[in-house]
Amino acid sequence: MHSNEERPVCVKHYDTMSEEERGEFQKAVEEGGEVDSDGLSERMKHARLLAYAAFEQGFLGVGGLKQPAGSYLGKVSRLSGYDLSGYCAELGWVYVTPEARGMRLASRIAEALSSSYEKGIFATTRSDNVHMQSILLKLGFARVGNEYRSVEHSGKKIQAWVLSR
Ligand SMILES: CC(C)(COP(=O)(O)OP(=O)(O)OC[C@H]1O[C@@H](n2cnc3c(N)ncnc32)[C@H](O)[C@@H]1OP(=O)(O)O)[C@@H](O)C(=O)NCCC(=O)NCCS
Repeated sequence: MHSNEERPVCVKHYDTMSEEERGEFQKAVEEGGEVDSDGLSERMKHARLLAYAAFEQGFLGVGGLKQPAGSYLGKVSRLSGYDLSGYCAELGWVYVTPEARGMRLASRIAEALSSSYEKGIFATTRSDNVHMQSILLKLGFARVGNEYRSVEHSGKKIQAWVLSR
């Protein structure tokens, strides 16, 4: 594998991605298993930005700035007790394949997305995901509201984070 430093992180809109890039992005998100893959390609179309690090083996790291549905914003606001209604972008779909972890790919992907968008961003993460929390903190995100129980991962808690600007 090439050093990740040699590989730029690409930030694109869905419309400017090739069919192959869309397929690779979707495959990586599905491999992450953190999100519901039903309707994923439709949600990718509506995303604000999609970012990826491409290698010979395919996309080893991905992330996106999603456009959250009002109902979802309302749900997270209610569960966390923090009003997210002003946030129109959610950092999500962050996934790095196991063999490429610890090389700052996720940090660079999250940074590239955050610096390509000028308004506020929110994110949610599991309370035990210390790596993701470290990435969010370094980008200037702050933890808000209360932790709440995960529906997808039983026994786990979720935190809400915001980057206000
Ligand atoms: C969380 C995840 C995206 C991190 O990807 P990554 O490319 O390995 O992350 P980075 O290399 O940018 O490292 C981020 C932080 O975690 C630390 N870290 C990463 N791997 C580590 C390891 N194996 N041991 C200790 N620390 C580690 C890094 O040191 C860094 O912290 P720092 O900035 O304080 O030094 C990756 O583990 C993953 O895809 N996990 C499964 C999906 C997931 O949890 N997604 C996030 C959903 S909210």
